[in-house]
Amino acid sequence: MRSMRTMARTLFIYALLASLQVWGGPTWADSKRGVEDANRCDGEPCDAVLRGLIAFFDRNLHGLDGNGRSCNDCHMITEQFRLTPAAVEARFQKLQKRRHYNRHADDPLFRPIDADDFRINGENASDYSNLRQNGLIRVVFALPPNIRLIDPETNAPSDEQTVDLWRMVPGVTDVKLSGADGVNPWPRGPNASGGYQLDGRFLTLQEQALAALTSHAQITAAPPQRLLDDLSSLQRVLFTNERVRALSLAIDAGITPLPTADPRLNTLEQQGRKVFERACAQCHGGPGQSTPQPPVVRMHEIFTQCPRRVDVVTPARFNFAPCPPRLARNARTYEITLANGTTTRRTSSDPGRALLTGFVGGPPPLDDWNKLDIPGMRGLRHTAPYFHNNSANTLEELVDHYVEFYKFVKANAAPGVVPPVASTDGVNFDRQPQPEERTALLAYLRKL
Ligand code: HEC
Ligand code: HEC
Repeated sequence: MRSMRTMARTLFIYALLASLQVWGGPTWADSKRGVEDANRCDGEPCDAVLRGLIAFFDRNLHGLDGNGRSCNDCHMITEQFRLTPAAVEARFQKLQKRRHYNRHADDPLFRPIDADDFRINGENASDYSNLRQNGLIRVVFALPPNIRLIDPETNAPSDEQTVDLWRMVPGVTDVKLSGADGVNPWPRGPNASGGYQLDGRFLTLQEQALAALTSHAQITAAPPQRLLDDLSSLQRVLFTNERVRALSLAIDAGITPLPTADPRLNTLEQQGRKVFERACAQCHGGPGQSTPQPPVVRMHEIFTQCPRRVDVVTPARFNFAPCPPRLARNARTYEITLANGTTTRRTSSDPGRALLTGFVGGPPPLDDWNKLDIPGMRGLRHTAPYFHNNSANTLEELVDHYVEFYKFVKANAAPGVVPPVASTDGVNFDRQPQPEERTALLAYLRKL
């Protein structure tokens, strides 16, 4: 009976995936490669992909004794493998309705570890504001030895050993292309050439899956290596669309030049692609659109954290949209002991890689404060809201943010220095999208 149900569910999931075109199953190219490769799906063993698929949706992974969450509870297949504030709120309302007639009704997305009041109320926590309003999940970091949190009540360093950050749920498509790429390393690890998670702290999908099972699904037994491999195999065959899959297969096959993953573009969209190549691809470069191109450095702060920077000069030379209170309240102040022994305080909703290294106060732009890894960007038109804290609701807001980013870089450049991130020739601040280019850029972004 149970196996019938599992089989029916597997077929259903397979049909769903095929209809969403995220997974094409064994390809013609695979079958051409000969008998020994006949059981491979886009380069991964088909049986592993299938087991990974079932595991991705399994809320009660055998013998692991978790909290009832599956990967799909956060990486929702119906939301492009993401979690949107709208989907969270719909699930929350549905749960309240179901509880009217069944007080045991459950949705494992709402577990106390992701409630705002978890640190105060523990297992009785019930305030899901960050999830419902922002679509954000708690991610816990041990503080490096030289970084302490400031207690907002006393304004003095606290004894806290860990800090809670709130991060969006990224998609799991195209991860084969967007992980570590071995080029353009940052001066410090972990994973100097990028990795998984918004800060690039995991090198492999197996490492990532283990962390997800432990922290999000609260498993209490060690998972078998095969489960981690299966989840990795599944995710390595998930692509935004057939063109991205074809690009990935061409990379595997060593084909040059590589095909483009863009669809056919009209004139406006082609103009937009030019703007993208000038204004965005120095960071969102390479096949995964996640490889910064030298001399542009690897990791970046793009000023999406809260609170937003405000210019000290009037009239203001840049104007970032301020964070709404629902996001601004996630900011914390830190006291950092610098290499020379002095201390400094900084406030941020997400210090990024500084929490992995403690490295703050180096020469700009090589400090780790607020630095994040570069995400890929395929399928953007389906993945709003944007940024690590879901702070841009639309692509229009996103482009507005980058226009201010460029103004900020210009306003803060040392005299006579034109950083490559803002300049194609080292002389002019010419990467910024111009007002008349906005429509074209947006048209292209909707085609990614
Ligand atoms: C409670 C919600 C939740 C669950 C359950 C969950 N994830 Fe995640 N996932 C997240 C969040 C939040 C991040 C980003 C965290 C960060 O960057 O620190 C993430 C990041 C990822 C990434 C990195 C993507 C990238 O581009 O770097 C992968 C891959 C991933 N998850 C896979 C999984 C798998 C596989 C499972 C099931 C074993 C799973 N997740 C379960 C919330 C969740
Ligand atoms: C200086 C390097 C840099 C440049 C230039 C840059 N980006 Fe980004 N981009 C980043 C970083 C770092 C992040 C992650 C920060 C975050 O999520 O808050 C990011 C995140 C994004 C995201 C969010 C993805 C998601 O899943 O939510 C989008 C979309 C994006 N960038 C589009 C663009 C576009 C369009 C341009 C050109 C106008 C551009 N970027 C230029 C570094 C850059």
